[in-house]
Amino acid sequence: MPHRPYIVGNWKMNGLRAAMSEARSIDRGAQRHPGVRVGIAPPFTLVHAMAETGQNLFVGGQDCHAQPSGAFTGEVSAPMLKDAGAVFVIVGHSERRAMHGESDAMVQAKADAAIAAGLDVIVCVGETEAERDAGRAEAVVDAQLEGSLPRGEGDAARVTVAYEPVWAIGTGRVPSVDDVAAMHAAIRAHLLAIYGDGGAAVRILYGGSVNAGNANELLAVAEVGGALVGGASLTADSFLQIVAAAGPAED
Ligand code: 13P
Repeated sequence: MPHRPYIVGNWKMNGLRAAMSEARSIDRGAQRHPGVRVGIAPPFTLVHAMAETGQNLFVGGQDCHAQPSGAFTGEVSAPMLKDAGAVFVIVGHSERRAMHGESDAMVQAKADAAIAAGLDVIVCVGETEAERDAGRAEAVVDAQLEGSLPRGEGDAARVTVAYEPVWAIGTGRVPSVDDVAAMHAAIRAHLLAIYGDGGAAVRILYGGSVNAGNANELLAVAEVGGALVGGASLTADSFLQIVAAAGPAED
């Protein structure tokens, strides 16, 4: 693993202000695992509060617009996220690709905007079940990487890739460790091709039904540099078990 493992919670459209108590518990728990980088991407409404409260948490957005400001009702820009205290943003999540028609080019424009605003980016890629069944999983992910990753000088240092097979998200199903290893190796090769030596240090997270029961096995796979966690990140109890699987507690 090139860095300390990175465990990121994607809260999706979950979390009222009352959920800040979970965030505070996660923050306290994260302090006991200094060998693990812990992030949460709450809904926009909680980004500022969480960034103010968190001492041991990296707080991020779940999406941003490609423009810094303007007449885009309902959108949130990368500079706004930065201003609210975020340090990273997720772009290209499959739910946005599928439900909001986001193309690779749009995802790349968002990643560029995020980096320009001083944010790190987590770029999500992953195949559907039909694509995997057709033997096209690696080709699909390859094309997504080719079209979605930012290409600026020095961008590799700001990028994390999250491999999230669409069919594993929220389903309780996960790929075999061999399939995860094969895909992460392919992603690493692509990162080296795009970024040269800088591609060696880019973290590649696995996402899709990660939970306390399977985290150990998934995090042990070669080239898995951490996890992007949905449902199991919503409570401190389950999320901290995944953090613990990534690195031992120190008192
Ligand atoms: P689940 O962990 O709920 O499957 O969600 C994964 C995900 O989409 C994280 O971005």
